[in-house]
Amino acid sequence: MMEKIMLFDSHAHIDDKKFNEDREATIARALENGIGGILNAGADMFSSARAVDLAEQYEPVYAAVGIHPHDAKDARETDYPKLAEWAVRPKVVAIGEIGLDYHYDFSPRDVQKAVFIRQLDLARQLGKPVIIHDREAHADLLAVMKKEGAGLSGVFHCFSGSLEMAREVLAMGLYLSFAGPVTFANAHKLKEVAKTIPLDRLLVETDSPYLTPEPHRGRRNEPAYVRLVAETIAGLRNIEPEQLARITTENTKRLFGIQ
Ligand code: NI
Repeated sequence: MMEKIMLFDSHAHIDDKKFNEDREATIARALENGIGGILNAGADMFSSARAVDLAEQYEPVYAAVGIHPHDAKDARETDYPKLAEWAVRPKVVAIGEIGLDYHYDFSPRDVQKAVFIRQLDLARQLGKPVIIHDREAHADLLAVMKKEGAGLSGVFHCFSGSLEMAREVLAMGLYLSFAGPVTFANAHKLKEVAKTIPLDRLLVETDSPYLTPEPHRGRRNEPAYVRLVAETIAGLRNIEPEQLARITTENTKRLFGIQ
């Protein structure tokens, strides 16, 4: 147990209704487990508003605001100025999560791309990093980032690509974040990436309430479990969990401009 070691859950959705019964207790459990910060990502206008509220309500919580590719089809012109208005609040540290999702294709791909690019522009104007969602859209995502992502900082959240893709992401100056799947026994490719990339570009997250790490797989995920992700990666890299915790927390704070 990594008691007293500060970890940062760089991506969670504690605004989700699955936490309605015990949100405050969930945050308290995270703190008890040495998680000093939780970045709550927005996925649509409603959850972005909730993320902003939670960041204002709870000291360890920070917010990102943005429209997920699933919801790109519902994006309206008036949403962008609203996102910009939220983004300048002190604890709103990124635009996200944004990107492409070709697994579910809940929004048409051209619409996903247009809404993604629009938000990359917004992030650039606001000087904010981006949190990128990429599911089965690796090639298009890299192409969009190469063409439209110049000058942006950000992270590929819950990275799921190959080592070759990781190298391209790193060459763009971006970070890679790992969630519960890196703890799965059969995740050989992912473990290889987590073991190999430079330590100063690595973040850890839960994506709560989704992607629950071993040994809690199948149950609701929560920020306290980011410890399990960090311990797994520390084991892969043969370093002390405390060192991994310290460095990933520093990385998260550096990327998102958190003091
Ligand atoms: Ni997410």
